[in-house]
Amino acid sequence: MIVKTLIENTTVSGEFQAEHGLSLYIETRKHKILFDMGASPLFVENAKKMNVDLAEVDLAIISHGHYDHGGGLKAFLNINSKAKIYVHRQAFAKHYAFENGQKKDIGLEETILPNSRFIFVGDRINIDQQLCLFSNVTNNGQGLSANKQLFKEVGTDFIADDFAHEQNLIIKEDDKLLLVAGCAHKGIVNIVDHVNMNLARYTNGGQTSLTHVIGGFHLYSISTRLAEDPLLVNRIGLRLRETKAQYYTCHCTGIESYNILRRVMGNQIQHLATGSQITI
Ligand SMILES: [Fe+2]
Ligand SMILES: [Fe+2]
Repeated sequence: MIVKTLIENTTVSGEFQAEHGLSLYIETRKHKILFDMGASPLFVENAKKMNVDLAEVDLAIISHGHYDHGGGLKAFLNINSKAKIYVHRQAFAKHYAFENGQKKDIGLEETILPNSRFIFVGDRINIDQQLCLFSNVTNNGQGLSANKQLFKEVGTDFIADDFAHEQNLIIKEDDKLLLVAGCAHKGIVNIVDHVNMNLARYTNGGQTSLTHVIGGFHLYSISTRLAEDPLLVNRIGLRLRETKAQYYTCHCTGIESYNILRRVMGNQIQHLATGSQITI
């Protein structure tokens, strides 16, 4: 598998522009997958520079209902006429962040609906033998401080977002079992544990645990500009280290928290920047 980072918050060089958002292009033997589309059409420019033909993507996923993962949706639909876009059925609900006492709409653009290109997903969908999407991680992510500014609108109320709209992707190829998370709002440890405890349902047998994990770990808040408590990040690093998987992180993990994870996990964790390419 090849994974190209089309957008995240930093870049490998001045050749690429970055933004607060995520977009990954993942090529397996069978699929050309676009996982998230950044906050704007900027990922399209980076895709060209990285020799990624977005018109050839056969399957697209929006990890959750936040603008920094689905902001480039219209741009993608204009370029690509064949890929189905898998999105959780709650992803287009109203999502907000509170920043400096102000309510900020951070949801997806509803004007794009209705659209026959979307496949609305519930708890889990086994797309084929290789791909599985799931959202039914029981933890609601309230242990992470960067989630505390995030709300959803229910009727006339604003309530803490439980991130029911957050789905993660599992890709199985040969002896590799890769988990891809967008922001891991529900907690990366919870999500990894959930997969490892439910492997039979997600993979039809074969692997005994995840071998690779990619994603933002939501250990930095763009609303408050604060990193997660270093003690908690340290504990997360220790737990991830136990899983023996190889980790790649970016986006909302934040550099401060990444540096702590790196100290705990060593080469078992690496940082992905816009313009980077890895082979799994
Ligand atoms: Fe994000
Ligand atoms: Fe998010």
